[in-house]
Amino acid sequence: MTGDAIVAEGLSKVFRDKTAVDRLSFTVKRGRFFGFLGPNGAGKSTTIKMLTGLLRPTSGDAVIEGVRVSQDLLAVKGLIGVLTEDLPLYERLTGEEYLHFAGRMYGLPREEVRRRADELLDFLSLADDRQQLILDYSQGMKKKAALAAALIHNPRVLFLDEPLNGIDPVSGRVVTDLLRRMAQKGVTLFFTTHVLDVVERLCDEVAVIDKGRIVAQGTLDEIRRQREVAGDASLEDVFLKLVSADVRREDLSWLG
Ligand SMILES: Nc1ncnc2c1ncn2[C@@H]1O[C@H](COP(=O)(O)OP(=O)(O)OP(=O)(O)O)[C@@H](O)[C@H]1O
Ligand SMILES: [Mg+2]
Repeated sequence: MTGDAIVAEGLSKVFRDKTAVDRLSFTVKRGRFFGFLGPNGAGKSTTIKMLTGLLRPTSGDAVIEGVRVSQDLLAVKGLIGVLTEDLPLYERLTGEEYLHFAGRMYGLPREEVRRRADELLDFLSLADDRQQLILDYSQGMKKKAALAAALIHNPRVLFLDEPLNGIDPVSGRVVTDLLRRMAQKGVTLFFTTHVLDVVERLCDEVAVIDKGRIVAQGTLDEIRRQREVAGDASLEDVFLKLVSADVRREDLSWLG
């Protein structure tokens, strides 16, 4: 088997007449902490959904840990954990029930599910709320419950769409430490975020997507070199330059 955890092969998605993702091809090596950046509407979530079989591509395919998504989705599902931005949680379950359900769905023995669920709830500071319905959870608590469910079967590849959004700084640190440890153990992390300093702290490699196409990929240093910006440019400078952002400096006309 090659060292590639994720291979995107010309992935495209067209919604009616709009091309959201445009013939995207890239590779992520096993064990990488890979950041996927881009402005709102760039196509990040659509790409994650196609890589994980949640959305059928208009054309193209993906291969996860050597398994082709179009051919054996069930095998792919067993290898991956996914945190989507819309969190499809079962809100009528308690946090604990939800984790037990998720673990059993992956075919883990009941005792093992219980043990892992207890550890995850504890780890993510949800232990006190384990008997509460997910419906009554705050946004950040829902995100943590969804993250726990994505981790319970010990996936080889983890896809996280804005995992830190809405999470308090203490839990944020817990989550990033956990993700870093997972990467050290050979788990591949593919995640999107708008928080650029998180990318600088965590990622080995990034790809920047704009209007459905990759405009840069590489280590942070490579991207800086590629774009011939000074080595001390912040990631934000590079990012703004790459997506040719039109940073407006004028006020809105009607603001007093
Ligand atoms: N189900 C859908 N039907 C129609 N258009 C869609 C659908 N989902 C996404 N799009 C469009 O595809 C484009 C890419 O959307 P996507 O959600 O992938 O962006 P994103 O990079 O995740 O943005 P954000 O940073 O805001 O989360 C957008 O123009 C969006 O309007
Ligand atoms: Mg998105």
